[in-house]
Amino acid sequence: MNEVIVIFDSLTGQTKKFADNLGFKSVHVKLYEGSPDDEIFLVTRSINFGQIPLTTKDFLDTYKEKVIGVAVSGNRNWGINYGKAGESIESYYGIPLVLKFEGSGYKSDVLKVKEWISNNSLKKEV
Ligand SMILES: Cc1cc2nc3c(=O)[nH]c(=O)nc-3n(C[C@H](O)[C@H](O)[C@H](O)COP(=O)(O)O)c2cc1C
Repeated sequence: MNEVIVIFDSLTGQTKKFADNLGFKSVHVKLYEGSPDDEIFLVTRSINFGQIPLTTKDFLDTYKEKVIGVAVSGNRNWGINYGKAGESIESYYGIPLVLKFEGSGYKSDVLKVKEWISNNSLKKEV
């Protein structure tokens, strides 16, 4: 049976908080050990003018096939680079960008992503 697991990349804790609120087992990108049955939902952040953090790139280079979707934390103060790592992940790795959110997100952001996972995971239950 496939298991949904949330993998997050977080420096100051905002992305981790969002990941934890989704209600699945959540693990930091650097600590994920890989399991054949996992379906991964990735929650990451944008850094330095919309870049993907290196830790996220390293993770995706190994596990991209297992990742069903991504949500990205950012800050609108970054203008056109707001959450841009999400668009880069979508175009470079072919992983659907489900949502950009600010900081640790609102409840409505968490609900949107929970609903997306429930509609798109093979397990189809949250
Ligand atoms: C040095 C630095 C660069 C950032 N660059 C961007 C950016 O280009 N685009 C964006 O949307 N947010 C940017 N942010 C905002 C972070 O993505 C946002 O605060 C995020 O919630 C941090 O996640 P974390 O607390 O899990 O580390 C930047 C933050 C810092 C400190």
